[in-house]
This record gives sequence, C-alpha cells and structure tokens, in this order.
Amino acid sequence: MSRWYDLFTSSEKRFTDIGMQMLDVKPGESILEIGCGTGHALTEFANKGANIIAIDISEKMLALARRKVQAANVGVCQADGLFMPVSDASFDSIFLSFTLELFDTPDMPNVMKECHRVLKPLGRIGIVSLAKQDTSAVRIYEWFHRRMPNLVDCRPIYLQPVLKEAGFQVQESTIKTMWGLPVEIVIAHKG
Ligand SMILES: C[S@@+](CC[C@H](N)C(=O)[O-])C[C@H]1O[C@@H](n2cnc3c(N)ncnc32)[C@H](O)[C@@H]1O
Repeated sequence: MSRWYDLFTSSEKRFTDIGMQMLDVKPGESILEIGCGTGHALTEFANKGANIIAIDISEKMLALARRKVQAANVGVCQADGLFMPVSDASFDSIFLSFTLELFDTPDMPNVMKECHRVLKPLGRIGIVSLAKQDTSAVRIYEWFHRRMPNLVDCRPIYLQPVLKEAGFQVQESTIKTMWGLPVEIVIAHKG
C-alpha cells in the first residue's frame, strides 16, 4: 500500500499530530518511532531537533520515508517492532501511530515489553490507535476488518490495559473521533 498510503490516510495525520504534540519532545531527545510508514511524523520530530531512529517492517514504506526526510538527526532502518535491534535503555521517548493495532493480540504485550526494555528510566511512550468501544461504528468497521484484513488492516484495541500490563503508567489520554471511529491517544511513562 506504500504508493497510495498518504492518499488514503490523510485523515489520520491530524491524530498523529495530536499524539506528537502530547508527547512534546524536546531538542536533543532521542526518539524511536515504530512503524514510521512513509515518514509523516519524522519531519516534525526532526524539526524539533530530536534525534530519531525510525523502524518499519516494510522496505517500500521506508524508501518513501527516506525520500521525505533526509536530515542528519534521522536514521531509518528495517526492523520488526517485536524484536528490536536496539540496546536496553537507549531512548527518551517512543512513538507509535496507527501501528500497535496491526500486531496480533498475543504479540501486543511483547511489543510493549520491548518498548519498556529500550526506554530509559522515566522514558515516555506516545501511542495513537483505534480504540475498541461498544459502538455501531466500531462493529461495522470490525465487520470489514474480518472480511478484508489486507485492506482494512488496523483494528480497534484496548490500549491502556496493554500499556499497564507492560509496566507503564498512563500520564495523559484523550479520545477523538475519526469518521465516527474512536481514536485513543495515550502518553505513558516507564514506571
Ligand atoms: C498504518 S501504518 C502507520 C504508519 C505511520 N505511523 C502513520 O501514522 O502514518 C502502520 C505501519 O506499521 C508497519 N508495521 C507493520 N507491522 C510491523 C512490525 N511488525 N514492525 C515494524 N513495523 C511494522 C507497516 O509497515 C506500516 O508502515
């Protein structure tokens, strides 16, 4: 989907931007973005003077991200969020936008454990994701997700329990709405 990704997902960018504002990175901070896609968030983080490493499993997404952002403080590499080639306690912040909900349900706690491992003490994580709620919009979306998982790939999740189970403490959260679907944005820190 890399070629069409920005076209189809322009409505998601607003929520990614809110997540980045809430994460509030400072110049010189080290940030890891998991699932950077075509690199929308990278530009913003780079402009703030942060040092960013962005990973994605898709080489085609990464090629577009590399084309979009070429800055000395940005490194982009292919890796799986489940097994990150990163030392313990290396980052001040981690950011995931519309990515955690692509992992299998049993894998989500493992991704969060990896995030916990690579964050510095008191490091922060910001996550933007579709939120699972008992609404007809969510039920209709899930119906399409079950039948066309390659096209409707993200699915609504219970974000906060996954974070808390991995040892994070939720600091701030908000729910917004995109096309009637709830989008949760959470900032948490390593407890
Ligand atoms: C829905 S896109 C979101 C992209 C970007 N964060 C944004 O908000 O525009 C999800 C991204 O996660 C990547 N991804 C999926 N599974 C992954 C994994 N196991 N490890 C790393 N990245 C993954 C996909 O290749 C895709 O680029």
